[in-house]
Amino acid sequence: MTATGPAPGDDLYDRVQATASVVRARIGARTPEVALILGSGLGGYADRLEDAVAIDYHELPGFPRSTVHGHAGRLVVGTRRGAMCVAMKGRVHLYEGHDARTVSFPARVLVALGARVLLVTNAAGGLRPEWPPGTLMLIRDHIDMLRDHALRGPNDDRLGPRFPDMTTSYTPALRALVKDVARAQGITLEEGVYVAMPGPTYETPAEVRMLQIIGADATGMSTVPEVVVARHMGARVIGISCITNKAAGITGEALSHEEVTETATRVRSTFEGLLDGILAALVERKELA
Ligand code: HPA
Repeated sequence: MTATGPAPGDDLYDRVQATASVVRARIGARTPEVALILGSGLGGYADRLEDAVAIDYHELPGFPRSTVHGHAGRLVVGTRRGAMCVAMKGRVHLYEGHDARTVSFPARVLVALGARVLLVTNAAGGLRPEWPPGTLMLIRDHIDMLRDHALRGPNDDRLGPRFPDMTTSYTPALRALVKDVARAQGITLEEGVYVAMPGPTYETPAEVRMLQIIGADATGMSTVPEVVVARHMGARVIGISCITNKAAGITGEALSHEEVTETATRVRSTFEGLLDGILAALVERKELA
């Protein structure tokens, strides 16, 4: 508190707890162990949760509403493959006009509810010309090119440290687990670096060349703010990108949102099988304890 009054965001901890309480009042004795944030074309996985309770985002204080076609806004809590999950069906992006604190607020609530593992998925453009659309990429690390940061503003030590370490943001042991599951299922899984760009334009070919040079393998418009707050709060993270298209300039063809959703839909059953396998392995290896 200063002479000019409370800095914006000072009440973040209380707002997170308040919204978590609203969710708890609806889900009874369930305590989520895994948080799922489902990207473009993958929201349907939330409907596979069993004994589920669904809550519209507009019932949840502080949850921003998605404006993108194909991103429904609902929180679903239920079990899948023995894991108690809380899934975000639809997420918001910075390009919709929200700042990174707002975009990442729901992820904070998921962790506050008890989720120790965040499994985040997205649709992304491939920066490697040899990767065909439909390739799945395990995120090893990220580069943040967004023009806002989820932790910008005052820090509340009850949520996490002022300067979080990002050395192993995508938990190595969980990456090994995902690779084991993919191998067992006969799924080709690439691994690489995700770069978050502000959008909503797709990149220019010149930007794509820049992103290749700085060491990125896939480019998208999401994920980083949620991963940042999950790490801030001490949750472990798994990230998987569905490469829905080659990034701009690689083929010379124009990019379209239709291509993105079409590819995501085509890969959906493989992707969902992988998610099932990951949940089963998390339970089996006692990674949720
Ligand atoms: N660029 C950025 N975001 C994306 C892309 C892309 O090529 N494809 C899907 N999301």
